[in-house]
Amino acid sequence: MKVLVKGGAGFIGSHTVDLLLKKGYEVRVLDLLQERVHPFGKPKYLPSEVEFMQGDVADKAIMEKALSGVEGVFHLAAYQDYMTDFSNFIRANTLSTALIFEIIVEKKLNIKKIVSASSQATYGEGKYECKNHGIQYPEGRTVPQLDKADWEMHCPVNGCNEYLKPVLIDEAVMNPFTAYGISKEALERVAHKLGRRYTIPTSCMRYSIVQGPRNSFFNAYSGVCRIFTLRIINDKAPVIYEDGKQLRDYLHVLDVAAANVLCFEDSRADYESFNVGGIAETNLIDYTNTLIKVAGKNIEPLIPGYYRYGDTRHTVSSSEKLKKLGWKNQYTLEDIFRDYIKWVNEQPDVKDRYDEVEEIMKKQSVLRQSKSSVKL
Ligand SMILES: NC(=O)c1ccc[n+]([C@@H]2O[C@H](COP(=O)([O-])OP(=O)(O)OC[C@H]3O[C@@H](n4cnc5c(N)ncnc54)[C@H](O)[C@@H]3O)[C@@H](O)[C@H]2O)c1
Repeated sequence: MKVLVKGGAGFIGSHTVDLLLKKGYEVRVLDLLQERVHPFGKPKYLPSEVEFMQGDVADKAIMEKALSGVEGVFHLAAYQDYMTDFSNFIRANTLSTALIFEIIVEKKLNIKKIVSASSQATYGEGKYECKNHGIQYPEGRTVPQLDKADWEMHCPVNGCNEYLKPVLIDEAVMNPFTAYGISKEALERVAHKLGRRYTIPTSCMRYSIVQGPRNSFFNAYSGVCRIFTLRIINDKAPVIYEDGKQLRDYLHVLDVAAANVLCFEDSRADYESFNVGGIAETNLIDYTNTLIKVAGKNIEPLIPGYYRYGDTRHTVSSSEKLKKLGWKNQYTLEDIFRDYIKWVNEQPDVKDRYDEVEEIMKKQSVLRQSKSSVKL
């Protein structure tokens, strides 16, 4: 079978391409080679047997060519950032999804399955429990709260204010608060509703924080692993925000490629969305100390009481639904760091730019100092 991988030159896309080729699929890649992800052009890791097209997934003429002659689609291209050009998120992530269905219906194409990349960002601040009011899906924390270094979530029910306990996020409720998260929630609605209406099976994959080799140094989403790894291998202390107790789940990109192909091939995944989460919930201090250990360094992280307004406190997904299809995490956090550090060491001219970026974030008030914390 020949399949189209949109965004196949990227981090998750290219590992998905490798797995598809290994399983005997013919692969066409459509990728814009976005400069902020690929400043040096087409990546060398893209195998020569891939049919490569450079172009925009939101361009109808290009998509008509890209869809011709394929029987399956992986929609992994996306605009990912924290900027305020909101319409770009909708164009690249949501409009591009509608375009797939528009062309399939207009041209009566024989597409057997579409797998799309969604995100844990569709959950916004995540899922919590209040001992008085049960399950809550709160909005983010306010600046006055963060200024007091009061990091944990409070119950939003009027007059309660009790501290909330984080619980694992299942697929039931999406509550995004960024343009990126909203564009992914809309992507899922477009995919599942149009898919059902025109009997084109779809699966949407809500990845947690994906890490591993080929994660672009220039992509805003390569965040913590890249920043901390570059600090640590250059013998500098990584800077942890808040109190370092915020929980996240991280997973290896090879586990994500396996989940993508599994849902593509298994009809039990049709018209469903799945969390694709990490092996365990991990707080930032443990994450950093594991990375320091794998890198073989003797460094103490700094915890100066900085915070970034808009960061979520705890977001950890449950992958129970996907596990019922036979998927499970094959790689630990140590495996992620080992593979990532090896890859970083193979790249020319990789620089630690954290100090520079920290200054910019402070000037723009993205990074702030809580008033109750000790200043460095
Ligand atoms: N990496 C993560 O932790 C993570 C987490 C949740 C969801 N996701 C989603 O997974 C998918 C893959 O992410 P990634 O980490 O591999 O990112 P990436 O930036 O490495 O790859 C995305 C690829 O899409 C291409 N692209 C961007 N806009 C395009 C356009 N308009 N037309 C054609 N190509 C375009 C880029 O050039 C890039 O090669 C994205 O949809 C992303 O939103 C990623």
